[in-house]
Amino acid sequence: MDRSLTLEIIRVTEAAALAASRQVGRGDEDEADRAAVDAMRHTLNELEINGIVVIGEGERDEAPMLYIGEQVGTGDGPEVDIALDPLEGTSITACGGQNAMAVLAMADKGSFLNAPDVYMKKIAVGKGIDLHTEDLNGPMQSIVDRITKVKGGDVRDVMVCILDRPRHEDLIAEVRATGARITLIQDGDVSAVISAADPSSTIDVYVGIGGAPEGVLAAAALQCIGGSMLGQLIFRNDGERVRAAKVGITDYDKIYTLNELAKPNNVMFAATGVTDGTMLPGVHRYPNGATTHSIVMRSKSGTVRRIEARHDFTRKPA
Ligand code: FBP
Repeated sequence: MDRSLTLEIIRVTEAAALAASRQVGRGDEDEADRAAVDAMRHTLNELEINGIVVIGEGERDEAPMLYIGEQVGTGDGPEVDIALDPLEGTSITACGGQNAMAVLAMADKGSFLNAPDVYMKKIAVGKGIDLHTEDLNGPMQSIVDRITKVKGGDVRDVMVCILDRPRHEDLIAEVRATGARITLIQDGDVSAVISAADPSSTIDVYVGIGGAPEGVLAAAALQCIGGSMLGQLIFRNDGERVRAAKVGITDYDKIYTLNELAKPNNVMFAATGVTDGTMLPGVHRYPNGATTHSIVMRSKSGTVRRIEARHDFTRKPA
């Protein structure tokens, strides 16, 4: 894969973020998603790649665009797999909340787990803390103690990030009992996983059940910035198991390591903020233009770039 593609994919997430930003706070999740999907698909198809969407908007019969299996790009360039979420945080966008982003990851063919759109239990930590498969469903005390040891502080300094959902009631109680602190987030666990791996963030560990596609996207980012992660698909019914079987999953209880979620060799990850968040500022719109903030990274080099772009709508409509 050509490294200049790293910068090209920023245009794709910028376009999706710009389109979605028009819908912030308008109360219409579908319209916000549709705007982001349209824009992402259009710019993605301008890239000189022979791409296939492996993590996308859903299966072919349920998603008109950017469905799993859709060919994208001009068809001329390298064969790549694409994982995308044109709008990570559709409800956040619709209600004008924080942390919505447009996200895309690209890698050599066969690099991403072909995860169905079900839930995934995830745990993610930063560099220096090893995760073993038993940690995913093991006692939180053990993780919190290890983080405390590596950080060299007090258990009360450890910050655990969890999605605020009724299904996490027991988990929240368990973490509180360890003495650690908790940041509860409303939505958007891709950025939460990335924060857990980012030493400059206040989050030390992300844990809980969120979307499986988001798990693969977050794993792609972690392969670029470092850190550790585990994931296990969570099925609510047989229908979901059938969907998993369709994408080749046979072991329904498997705990996936980071390298199984996203292979490390040649991954690129990009995200552009839609609304203000912990990782990225959102789109700032003004007459005839807007400013976007993006992050783009590559696993091969470990380079992480932050890009602020000013878009002049009098020259190019957005
Ligand atoms: P969307 O992109 O579908 O809006 O996902 C937002 C999100 O918060 C993800 O970050 C997270 O993985 C998932 O939803 C959690 O799902 P649920 O809202 O069903 O608990």
